[in-house]
Amino acid sequence: MNNELVIVLDFGGQYNQLIARRVRECGVYCEVRSSKTPIDELKKLEPKGIIFTGGPNSVYDEASPHIGKEIFELGIPILGICYGAQLVAYTLGGKVETCSVSEYGKTETFYDKSCILFGAVKDLPDSDTSWMSHTDFVAQVPEGFRITAHTKNCPAAAFENKERRIYAVQFHPEVNHTAHGVEMLDSFVKNVCGCKGDWNMKNYAESVIGQIREKVGNGRALLALSGGVDSSVACALMAKAVGDRLTCVFVDHGFMRKNEGDEVEAAFKDWDLNFVRVDASERFLSKLEGVSDPETKRKTIGEEFIRVFEQEAKKIGAVDFLVQGTIYPDVIESGAGDAAVIKSHHNVGGLPDFVDFKEIIEPLRMLFKDEVRKLGTELGLPDYLVWRQPFPGPGLAIRIIGEITREKLDILRDADLIFREEIANAHLDRDINQYFAVLTDMRSVGVMGDFRTYDYTLALRGVTTSDFMTADFARIPYEVLEKVSIRIVNEVGHINRVCYDITSKPPATIEWE
Ligand code: XMP
Repeated sequence: MNNELVIVLDFGGQYNQLIARRVRECGVYCEVRSSKTPIDELKKLEPKGIIFTGGPNSVYDEASPHIGKEIFELGIPILGICYGAQLVAYTLGGKVETCSVSEYGKTETFYDKSCILFGAVKDLPDSDTSWMSHTDFVAQVPEGFRITAHTKNCPAAAFENKERRIYAVQFHPEVNHTAHGVEMLDSFVKNVCGCKGDWNMKNYAESVIGQIREKVGNGRALLALSGGVDSSVACALMAKAVGDRLTCVFVDHGFMRKNEGDEVEAAFKDWDLNFVRVDASERFLSKLEGVSDPETKRKTIGEEFIRVFEQEAKKIGAVDFLVQGTIYPDVIESGAGDAAVIKSHHNVGGLPDFVDFKEIIEPLRMLFKDEVRKLGTELGLPDYLVWRQPFPGPGLAIRIIGEITREKLDILRDADLIFREEIANAHLDRDINQYFAVLTDMRSVGVMGDFRTYDYTLALRGVTTSDFMTADFARIPYEVLEKVSIRIVNEVGHINRVCYDITSKPPATIEWE
């Protein structure tokens, strides 16, 4: 696909994905591989460079991941980061010791700019901030190496063997807190590894489309479209590759936000593919009659989704390929590297094995989320699909507390739309990572004109987060909240009170159910 490949060899560091993302930002395709990958396998990949990640261990722990000396004999440039740097020193005969003072956080670092990693960085001062996180340090560099950076407590904050093209940094260039860190990585991949840096989404799309065409041949593919970013981009990519040999089934469970079902349909209307929209809202609503327990709601919707998809798939008949919108963090987190398994993924793409198909295609499995978005734009998808905030599979059903009715769905849709409109008007829509309205089951007394009202309380939720595993409530300006509140109470029937949720996660979750 692309002959410029840099491998990130994962020794269990928490920043393994970040390193790969940063290298890709430099225009060089990069993959994360386990540190246990056999050397022959690495050789076959013909990488232009290899980066050793950090790791939580000490090189002297028997249980910690090590590396054979042979990797240094391949003639492929190597950059060790943190634990990776210590591993370079340890494996090649240097000395690693426990620090008398551990370094953690922003640390003043003195650079020797005759080293290409630093010398190539425009305007790098003689000393600048780097991000440190280590309790061991390199006390003596291996023979043939020279020290190229130091800090107050770390004599070998960077070292190199220029002839052998082996480099090591104790700090984390991939973390934003390291000033000019990405430029240092850029210098490694371009000046040391000799990469051109011509990897971009356009090339990527072209080569993946070619691969998919070859794989699918005259076969037929089936995709479950949820309307989320990943499945929408996967759909667009497949459609470009195989056209009407793709059937895309969009199960509309009736819990989408205002106009959302139509928007998804409109986005794919003119594409050369078989698009099936199943309006299953009656079915879902009747299954959920009388259900107010959140977990029962979720399970009922999940099962019903599968039943509907199953029926549609049967109508289509045998297909050769099932397409899933798995993305790279899912692949890494489910154990491709050495980092701990954080979570097992579940989404509507995860269908069971009832569908009669031969193989699975995951066209986004090598892409990070921001790259998926770029690819979507490259393929011509509209911004409202590409920049869609996360939306839970069960949709508005878990944003209505208590039993779901058609009337409540309508109330929530209208209120949620107003909230979204005002956030967009205030130009906050890219700053707040997720924001939505929740219809509570609480009613309270109000007064409108001369009349007493007894109506629902609506809650607004807005969070800032990068990983959605922790989140802070968004500091939306009062004026914006006021506008939203006035509009909702005036324009949406049956709401007479609006609250803003000021809990972070933890202890609350982002969704209310
Ligand atoms: P919580 O509520 O657990 O949500 O803090 C974290 C993120 O996950 C989204 N979410 C879901 N996404 N299927 C999904 O695809 C689901 O069932 C689901 N439940 C929650 C939620 O919107 C937030 O972004």
